[in-house]
Amino acid sequence: MGNITIKTAEDIEGMRVAGRLAAEVLDYITPFVKPGVTTGEIDRLCHEYMTNVQGSIPAPLNYCPPGYTPYPKAICTSLNDVICHGIPGDKVMKNGDVLNIDVTIIKDGYHGDTSRMFFLGEPSILARRLTEITYECMWLGISKIKPGAHLGDIGHVIQQHAEKAGYSVVREFCGHGIGKVFHEEPQVLHYGRPGTLEKLEAGMIFTVEPMINAGRREIREMGDGWTIKTKDRSLSAQWEHTVLVTETGFEVLTVSPGMPAPPAFIQNQATAAA
Ligand code: MF3
Ligand code: CO
Ligand code: CO
Repeated sequence: MGNITIKTAEDIEGMRVAGRLAAEVLDYITPFVKPGVTTGEIDRLCHEYMTNVQGSIPAPLNYCPPGYTPYPKAICTSLNDVICHGIPGDKVMKNGDVLNIDVTIIKDGYHGDTSRMFFLGEPSILARRLTEITYECMWLGISKIKPGAHLGDIGHVIQQHAEKAGYSVVREFCGHGIGKVFHEEPQVLHYGRPGTLEKLEAGMIFTVEPMINAGRREIREMGDGWTIKTKDRSLSAQWEHTVLVTETGFEVLTVSPGMPAPPAFIQNQATAAA
């Protein structure tokens, strides 16, 4: 607590650039996400685009938090019952799969971190609904962000929306402060109580990245040291944005031409505020 950095104007400008580049990697890869392609090929294409087109660095590559082995790839690809940190490999994706691609790039020392869901061909009704509810969860959480609000306000609306739909919120992983450091304070829990935890101030930057399971919230860790799956093998979905707390509310930093539109309730809120 108390160690949340307040970004300078220069930091914020750097974070806008990094955020846009991370989102643009997802725009770039979208047409390649089709049945018959491997997650390793998706990784290779993203890595090449970052290095050769953007001049950015993939933050996950060799990332090694305490207790972990170095992460071996440029991005995370989490398929179906994989909650997060799926390692790209020779797995061929098929019609009906649902995939999260999580991209974190470094540009001029600043990190941009964002993820989206992708359908391979035609998704099941469950996969579509879980993905939509999770998207709404992320945006509901983001919509709470303004000076004076508390981190618990974000977690609370996410948990309410997920559980009302019959889904569960993963507790072991959370959003995080971000800047020159990939993962810094605060932890942004995706569950909680209004009015609890840290009070937000203009100049804070953190991610909102709810992981929502169609079944129970329990996780299991795979033997590769990274991949996290649902214990009950139910589907899991996740979306992620990097967000700045502004004087009047929030600014999403991981924006790009190809990003999906916010849900209607957010657009209406923005219009009402204007
Ligand atoms: N991008 C993930 C996040 O949102 C972190 C991935 S760490 C990695 O925080 F090493 F697995 F890439
Ligand atoms: Co993140
Ligand atoms: Co991420």
